[in-house]
Amino acid sequence: MNPLKLRVTVFCLFLLLFKAPCYTEFEITVPRDTVTGFYSEALILRCSFPVDSSWDLQSTVITWQRGLDVVHRFYYSQDQLDRQNQHFVNRTSLFIQEMARGNASLRLDKVTLQDAGVYTCSISTNTGSQKKSFGVKIAAFYSEPRLQFSLLTDGVNLLVTSDGGYPSPTLQWLMQNSDITNRTQTHIAQDTQTGLYVVSSWLNLTKGTKTFLTFILHNNPLGQDLRRDIQLDLDKGERQGESAYRCHGCFIYIPVILLLLLLIVMSLLSVFITRRSRREQTKQNGFTEIKSKFLMENV
Ligand SMILES: *[C@@H]1O[C@H](CO)[C@@H](O)[C@H](O)[C@H]1NC(C)=O
Ligand SMILES: *[C@@H]1O[C@H](CO)[C@@H](O)[C@H](O)[C@H]1NC(C)=O
Ligand SMILES: *[C@@H]1O[C@H](CO)[C@@H](O)[C@H](O)[C@H]1NC(C)=O
Ligand SMILES: *[C@@H]1O[C@H](CO)[C@@H](O)[C@H](O)[C@H]1NC(C)=O
Repeated sequence: MNPLKLRVTVFCLFLLLFKAPCYTEFEITVPRDTVTGFYSEALILRCSFPVDSSWDLQSTVITWQRGLDVVHRFYYSQDQLDRQNQHFVNRTSLFIQEMARGNASLRLDKVTLQDAGVYTCSISTNTGSQKKSFGVKIAAFYSEPRLQFSLLTDGVNLLVTSDGGYPSPTLQWLMQNSDITNRTQTHIAQDTQTGLYVVSSWLNLTKGTKTFLTFILHNNPLGQDLRRDIQLDLDKGERQGESAYRCHGCFIYIPVILLLLLLIVMSLLSVFITRRSRREQTKQNGFTEIKSKFLMENV
């Protein structure tokens, strides 16, 4: 063992005692936990490698893979995409300007649910090589809930819908703060194209209900909590009768109003007719005047 190597080993041991990484190690860094990407947005998959003064771009090889599929490749100082998997075409890029600082992060554009999986960042430079993997999952926020009412024979049906979310949500309904989820029905479907969820949840309420409802949608991985309060005061049957009675009054007024309108129209028409006939008369008078003038001149 030559003295230099011995000194390096001793130095490394010394650093290990203090739990610091030994400088001869080539250690790349990727996220420790699963990364969440947002549907249709860009996602940056982080990966960095150690660089020192001897670092050389020309001998740096960066390979991003998902399983065995090539996501992106870089060597000879440029992107090498001939073996890139079809699924990632036109959606990947590296931050080449930041590479000298050890940045091998990958930008993946227009993320879809099919981009989930385990990604591996492999780096090889003139000072060492290593690869590390981490998980990627995709999520999407649910839209603002929409509320719809429809009349039933003995009450109303209250329907709440929300869509464009991922993964499947958990729903909860409260009535005056007590859980009534068991009294509701829920339908969760997946959009065949995007794979995103469409949620409908409904509840029947009888006439005369006066209550305070809360609809809650949890999208746990995103920490999205949609909470909507609904203040309800449904008319009783008798009340409806009362309003029908009021409408009786309307029926009495309608013929009166129609009659008045008819009278107004008729009086307006008669004025118009008399005016018009008068005007026609004057026109005729003018004509006879001209005619008589003409006759006079001819004479
Ligand atoms: C690499 O650079 C990009 C763009 O500036 C940045 O968003 C990302 O955080 C960097 N990654 C690392 C690991 O430094
Ligand atoms: C990628 O982009 C090129 C150039 O813009 C285009 O010709 C090609 O069709 C695109 N490929 C895919 C799979 O979108
Ligand atoms: C809903 O019903 C299930 C079984 O029918 C029961 O186990 C659960 O406790 C009920 N939940 C509530 C909040 O009433
Ligand atoms: C609500 O009423 C409709 C029509 O009467 C019925 O088909 C549906 O099952 C009811 N839903 C609930 C949650 O009771």
